[in-house]
Amino acid sequence: PDEPLVLGIETSCDETGVGIVRGRTLLANAVASSMDEQAKYGGVVPEVAARAHADAIVPVLREALDTAGVTLDDLDAIAVTAGPGLAGALMVGVGAAKSLSVATGLPLYGVNHLVGHVAADLLREDGEPIEFPAVALLVSGGHTSLIRVDSLTGDSEMLGETIDDAAGEAFDKIARVLGLPYPGGPQIDKAAVGGDAGAFRFPRGLTHPKDLGKHRYDFSFSGLKTSVARTVEKFEDAGEQVPVSDIAASFREAVADVLLTKALAACADLGIPRLLLAGGVAANTRVRELAAQRCAEVGVSLHVPPLALCTDNGAMIAALGVELVAAGKSPSPLAFPADSTLPM
Ligand code: KG4
Ligand code: ZN
Repeated sequence: PDEPLVLGIETSCDETGVGIVRGRTLLANAVASSMDEQAKYGGVVPEVAARAHADAIVPVLREALDTAGVTLDDLDAIAVTAGPGLAGALMVGVGAAKSLSVATGLPLYGVNHLVGHVAADLLREDGEPIEFPAVALLVSGGHTSLIRVDSLTGDSEMLGETIDDAAGEAFDKIARVLGLPYPGGPQIDKAAVGGDAGAFRFPRGLTHPKDLGKHRYDFSFSGLKTSVARTVEKFEDAGEQVPVSDIAASFREAVADVLLTKALAACADLGIPRLLLAGGVAANTRVRELAAQRCAEVGVSLHVPPLALCTDNGAMIAALGVELVAAGKSPSPLAFPADSTLPM
C-alpha cells in the first residue's frame, strides 16, 4: 500500500511501452511494436518509428491504466526513458511524459534506458533479483553494451560497446543474406536447429590479443557479417545449395562466443561474480545456453529477466522509477531533454 506506484514510458526504439509497477509488483506492461511496419524496410527506420510512437502512445497508455485498474490520480510518479535511443522516437515519450506530469502535478523522472534493462530483473516472479555491483550485457537491435552497475539509483559505468553493428542488427542482416524474414534473430535461431555449429569458423571480432587493450570490452560484428556473406556468395556462385542450417548455427555460435567471452572477462577483471543478460538477443537459445554453461564454470551467477521484460518495455522503466522514488531521489527538472546519446 505505501509502496510507490509508478508509470513508466519507453519509446527509445521501435516499441511503444507503458508499464505500471507497484513496489516490485508488475501491474501492467502494454507494448505496441512497429516491427511489422519496419519489416518492410528490413530494419528500424527512425522516422517510421517516431510516427508509430505518436500514433500508439495514447492507446498504449490507456491500455496500461485499464489493465492495472488504476487512474492517473493513484500514481506516485512517472518515469520515462530520456535516452539513449533514436532522437525522434525518444521525443514522443518524453513529450508525453512531460505533458502528463504538468497536467497531474506528478513528479517526473527521466531515466537511462540501459539501466532500465537492468531494473527489469526486479520484476522477476521466481528467485531473488540480482544484487549489486553487477555486470550487465545488454544486447538488442539497437545496442550492444557491457556496463558495470554499482546501484540502480547511483553509479553505472559503460565498460564497452559495439564499434559498428549491434548484435541484433547483425542477426537481422545475416537473416536477410540467408533469405530469412525480419526480425532475423528468431529466424536464425529456428534455422540453426539441427545445424552444425562447427561447420564454419566465423571470426570473433575484437577478441584477438592485440584488441584486448583499448577494445577489451568493445564488440565488433562487421567482420563476422562480411565473412558470413562471403561464405553464402561462394555457394551461390558455385551454383550449390547454401547450407543455411550450418551457417545459421555457426554464425549464432560466433556471436554467443564473443558476447560471453567479453562479459565474463569483465566479471573476472572487476571481481564481480554476477552477470545480467537482457535485450532482444537474450532470447537467443544458444546465447542463453552458453551463458548458463560458462557462468556455471567460473562461479558467476547469471540473471536473465523474463523474456517479455528483456525486450524494450515500459515496465522496466517503471521499476527503475520505483527505485528512484524509494531512494528519495529528486525528480528531473521539467526541462530535461530527450538525449539520443545520454551517457551512463
Ligand atoms: O530488445 P529488442 O526487442 O528491441 C530493440 O532492438 O531495441 O531487440 C530486437 C532485436 C532484433 O534485432 C532481433 O533480431 C533480436 O533482438 N532477437 C534475437 C532473437 N529474438 C530477437 N536475436 C537472436 N536470437 C533470438 N532468438
Ligand atoms: Zn533496449
